[in-house]
Amino acid sequence: MQFRFQLVVILAILVAACSERAPETTVYDPAHDYFSFANTDQFATEHLALDLAVDFDKEQLRGSATHRMRRIDPGAGEIVLDSRDLHVTDARFLLADGDSVPADFRIGETDAIKGSSLIVTLPADLDPAGELRLRLHYATSPGSTALQWLPAKLTADGKHPLMFSQSQAIHARSWVPLQDTPALRITYEATVRTPPELLAVMSAVNDPLTERSGEYSFEMPQPIPSYLLAIAVGNIYFAPLGEQTGVYAEPELLEASVFEFADTQAMLEQAEALFGPYQWGRYDLLVLPPSFPYGGMENPRLSFITPSLLAGDRSLVAVVAHELAHSWSGNLVTNATWRDQWLNEGMTSYLEARLMEVIYDKDRADEERVLSYQELLLDLDEVPAEMQALAPRLDSGDPDDFQGTIHYSKGQLFLQYLENAYGRDVFDEFIASYFDAFAFQTITTERFLDYLEEKLLPLQPARVSRADVEQWLYQPGLPATVPVPRSATLDAAQSMAAAWADEAVDVADIPIDSWSPQATVHFINSLPADLSQERLAELDAHLGLSDTRNAEIGRAWFIQVATRRHESAYESLRQYLNRYGRGRLITPIYAALAQNGSDLDRARDYFEQARTAYHPITDASIARALGLDDS
Ligand code: BES
Ligand code: ZN
Repeated sequence: MQFRFQLVVILAILVAACSERAPETTVYDPAHDYFSFANTDQFATEHLALDLAVDFDKEQLRGSATHRMRRIDPGAGEIVLDSRDLHVTDARFLLADGDSVPADFRIGETDAIKGSSLIVTLPADLDPAGELRLRLHYATSPGSTALQWLPAKLTADGKHPLMFSQSQAIHARSWVPLQDTPALRITYEATVRTPPELLAVMSAVNDPLTERSGEYSFEMPQPIPSYLLAIAVGNIYFAPLGEQTGVYAEPELLEASVFEFADTQAMLEQAEALFGPYQWGRYDLLVLPPSFPYGGMENPRLSFITPSLLAGDRSLVAVVAHELAHSWSGNLVTNATWRDQWLNEGMTSYLEARLMEVIYDKDRADEERVLSYQELLLDLDEVPAEMQALAPRLDSGDPDDFQGTIHYSKGQLFLQYLENAYGRDVFDEFIASYFDAFAFQTITTERFLDYLEEKLLPLQPARVSRADVEQWLYQPGLPATVPVPRSATLDAAQSMAAAWADEAVDVADIPIDSWSPQATVHFINSLPADLSQERLAELDAHLGLSDTRNAEIGRAWFIQVATRRHESAYESLRQYLNRYGRGRLITPIYAALAQNGSDLDRARDYFEQARTAYHPITDASIARALGLDDS
């Protein structure tokens, strides 16, 4: 008897010890979102209602977010949301009869990258079968990583302030407490209160004829992932581009924007012909101040765009083709986690080039294909092997750092390789069927692979094997079968660079006026390393490189200027760093100054002068490049 009792106790202790250790697992789960705290397997928001006041003085959004949630696990008693630097003052569940029940809430774990988990306890007396309606009252902090509050002096008119959001990848949580993962989709509505002379726009239905009143209502009827939540408020006006398309900008930029983006309606129509129906109603652009950190952001119905595209010759509108193409790859069929980002960006880069081909011509598309391939080759020299796979292991770090050209350019080449293997007609059908099959869903790389194996590979079994595909997806570098893009115009520009460097061609005979900006960029990138300062000055004087108003030519030139320590152009370089805020344009120039061996202090000095106008995302990446990490 005594012995049996002891045995039971020992067994009980053993069981307890084992079950304590059991949840510890290090197995990497590619379908898991390592960048969200939300318990989406227990609760899922289906609809979000925002009611927000926009306070420019306090640099704060203030109001409430109401979640209509589905309870997936009837036993679960806590809702875990993502947040970052939010001041939550009240949480309550709304009841059908109009009453509400207050709920306890607390901040759980806090992480430098992921922010904080916000845990709401379900009151015991809540009907477990009923739909959950959770309302949170909160305010954002001025340091919200998603929001930039621009004082009037940093806007085009110098008189009105302007604010905008950038939620991708994991910044939505810094302006709305929510389940911040691309794995879930929500519809939303919003009421936004602003100073009466300003206009608010969102990634939702925007009525171009809205009167300025200081109170604006929005509805987004199609379900979207949280990273596509977007808002901007400023002295912005609308101008139509086509029947279904238009552009918002500060009045000073409106005319230039209408000229630059005149092809947007045609792009939309061609995109529909190629990829299937456009599912979002209108497609408008919002041209932001220079600090906007990206070339563009595919916020649904309203892409946010950098003003650095306003070159005056429509030469940089591939970015618009790119953001528009995201209306299919990304917004309609969404990467399940940030690790699957190539499904958004690689597919979009492929579609972007296809659009450029039909809207303009194959030469123009090929020029851009070559330039992005060249950038990829540079990146492959830098990026560690384990991050060179299209779908690498990604369970830590900052998803904002997981960018660069791998998912864009290598993803694009992978899809080009499939197109070449099966023929354009067959591949186009496959792409359209993919968008149809996964419309308004999220998808992992593995699901894509299965779909490929089911629908495309069997059509010509000898052409591409599953192992070939897996090499693209999971191995570093580029397979030997990579379809290397070619452009005769860029080849000519490259030969011209060599001929001029060899003094076989006079600087006056470089036919820059007949070149596309892309050819000029390639010419600059192809200059040999051993040019004297005098020859660089001669080139600059004749081609006007330091004075260019084309942001991409400027980028290519000033990277060379910094790398080669061409000091006579440093004043122009400094002005360039003050004119633009888009990370792609300026970060590599700072990095080149920091790396040339002598200009780190100068780079830091330029940065100090310019950084007040930069977006926090850009600021952080430059600070890293200049070794100022903790500033
Ligand atoms: N969605 C991206 C921007 C982005 C990516 C923001 C990852 C945050 C995290 C956008 O569509 C994009 O790719 N922009 C490019 C355009 C270019 C490749 C044509 C950019 O900003 O340069
Ligand atoms: Zn993109």
